[in-house]
Amino acid sequence: MAAITGALRSGGICQSPAPGRRGPRAAATPRALAARASTAPAGGATSAAPLPPQNQTQPQQASRHEDAAPVPRRALLSAAAAAAAALAAAPPPRAAADEAPAGPAAAPAAPAPAGAPAKVFVAGATGQTGRRVVQQLRAAGIQVRAGVRDTRKAQSLGFAFDQGIELVACDVVKQSADELAAAIGDATAVICCTGYTGLNPAGFGQVDETGTENLVDAAKRAGVGQVVLLTSLLTNAPGVGQADNPNYKFLNLFGGVLDHKLAGERYLRGSGLGWTIVRPGGLASAAPEEVGNLIVSGEDTLFGLDTDPGRQISRDTVAEVLVAALLDPAARGRVVEIVASPSAPALPRERWFDV
Ligand SMILES: NC(=O)c1ccc[n+]([C@@H]2O[C@H](COP(=O)([O-])OP(=O)(O)OC[C@H]3O[C@@H](n4cnc5c(N)ncnc54)[C@H](OP(=O)(O)O)[C@@H]3O)[C@@H](O)[C@H]2O)c1
Repeated sequence: MAAITGALRSGGICQSPAPGRRGPRAAATPRALAARASTAPAGGATSAAPLPPQNQTQPQQASRHEDAAPVPRRALLSAAAAAAAALAAAPPPRAAADEAPAGPAAAPAAPAPAGAPAKVFVAGATGQTGRRVVQQLRAAGIQVRAGVRDTRKAQSLGFAFDQGIELVACDVVKQSADELAAAIGDATAVICCTGYTGLNPAGFGQVDETGTENLVDAAKRAGVGQVVLLTSLLTNAPGVGQADNPNYKFLNLFGGVLDHKLAGERYLRGSGLGWTIVRPGGLASAAPEEVGNLIVSGEDTLFGLDTDPGRQISRDTVAEVLVAALLDPAARGRVVEIVASPSAPALPRERWFDV
């Protein structure tokens, strides 16, 4: 798994950049929120909206990916499963810290910024990136509806100690759009941090494509104004002459995860909702100080190549960008591709979406 994750992080085989590539912008990420998020998972809150007991979700919706063809060879399955799992959940350098129970959430650093949504729904809130998003939203003074599949996991992260976090059931595969709309409730924005992590090749279609589409439908029904979707570099690789990019081929091998993420992106873009799509490189759980400063680049400009300015990025930084996308009008209707590098110069936050 680590080796596969490294394909995105280290670039693997080097290829020429795509034609028409735009230059990236580099930024030093603000540290106050990131420091909180990197040291402890999202901290606590009282469940204003009680999460139903586990296993009481609705029957699984029909999925057009349920009949996905079986993987032909066991060896391929094994290797590719590792690749897909690596993309979805890279083994974090700080795995122990990531899984440790959180203390109470830090008190909001300041009142919510002017124009910020009062309450944000986070899908995949117990994920390694999702929990950081929850924490950074709270630190920014924004209320959170944390969409989770596993109550105990949420509790282990300390969500129940913060009255600004409402725990709500969210399974984008098993719940209907109406049920998900109810989960979104009175939140006026959604940040989607979901991603399939299992070994069933059909799972990527179910979660990263159909599940995302289901959530987008739910967001429309809930009257949400903006959806910020976390996907990945290389989702549109074939569309910009990178079909033979070894990183794309390797990461997409098992279950077509990148293709499914692209379909999810397209569905959001065509939804009529306000949207921002954030495509990171390889995710690291190390702090931004270790991984490097943020580099923001335009749509279809970074491919995990040796010629790229960076290939990995701290999840803390990714969470910052996801939250910032809700606060910066320049993020509306944009796809940003993000990596990090210790040698990248600082870029002011107001230019993060100026790509
Ligand atoms: N790893 C990388 O290097 C890399 C690189 C680029 C992009 N990405 C993408 O970035 C995203 C976040 O990555 P991560 O490392 O934070 O992943 P993660 O820790 O595995 O989190 C994924 C989240 O998705 C949730 N989820 C899975 N299936 C779901 C479903 N059916 N309904 C609702 N939620 C569901 C999981 O719930 P549970 O907590 O209950 O398991 C988890 O909270 C993923 O989409 C991943 O593919 C990863």
